[in-house]
Amino acid sequence: MFEWQAKLSVGHDPLDQEHQSLLKLMVDFKSKLPESTEAIYQALLELVVASQSHFFHEEELLESLSYGNLQAHKRIHRNLLAKLQDYLKLIKSEDSRELRTEILYFLEAWWMGHIKNVDRRYAPVFS
Ligand SMILES: [Fe+2]
Ligand SMILES: [Fe+2]
Repeated sequence: MFEWQAKLSVGHDPLDQEHQSLLKLMVDFKSKLPESTEAIYQALLELVVASQSHFFHEEELLESLSYGNLQAHKRIHRNLLAKLQDYLKLIKSEDSRELRTEILYFLEAWWMGHIKNVDRRYAPVFS
């Protein structure tokens, strides 16, 4: 879970590094699963902040390269951020082991899928 692999590379070192840092934050979130509500909230908050800044950087770079699918890609990013904000609120209001597990599996499915299937589609602009 959340392991970096060469097949996840998008062909741009700074973006690959940001993806790796995000995966580390997910490992950190996972390691906080047995801890307090505050600890798990902080771990998720860190991931939300890092995701926001990564999306901004990725979108800015793709825009400068006139990447054709940018609007759809931006929409996908915005939907993820909305979902993560909902999860942050839910942790505050109704934290539970089930909710934490749901978030963990959501992060794995969404992030790994996004890098592999959505981000990798822009790799040709860097080659
Ligand atoms: Fe993306
Ligand atoms: Fe990305």
